[in-house]
Amino acid sequence: MPLMNWSPELDVGVEAMNHEHRQILDAMNDVFDSDAAGVTGATMMAKIARLGEVTTRHFADEERYMDSIAYPGRDGHKTIHAKLLSDFAKHSGAIEAADGKCTREFFQFLNLWLSAHIKHIDRKYGDHANRGGVKAA
Ligand SMILES: [Fe+2]
Ligand SMILES: [Fe+2]
Repeated sequence: MPLMNWSPELDVGVEAMNHEHRQILDAMNDVFDSDAAGVTGATMMAKIARLGEVTTRHFADEERYMDSIAYPGRDGHKTIHAKLLSDFAKHSGAIEAADGKCTREFFQFLNLWLSAHIKHIDRKYGDHANRGGVKAA
């Protein structure tokens, strides 16, 4: 059973960002399902590293996108991304120290990130864009 399935509530109204959010969801679910199947060690760390890569790339793309539509909340949003990446690195470091054994706290963090960040924080730039936000030159 996956950590979280795609649902219409995760639709931020920008297809390119929805696509990347689905990639993050897939990478998260791979980590979650692998943990449930007893995967640990280097195999688990490679899956967590892949989730980190997909996420880092997405944040960079999303920040470029917010700049391109001159979204007024972009600075605060970038600060939140930086905090998420730093929290992710802390969880990843703790899991590596435990030989790739995932923690409940890690999955709670991922779950909250998806449900709160995408539904509420990301959603706002989509609303801005779909209200006809000013395009950057
Ligand atoms: Fe975001
Ligand atoms: Fe996002």
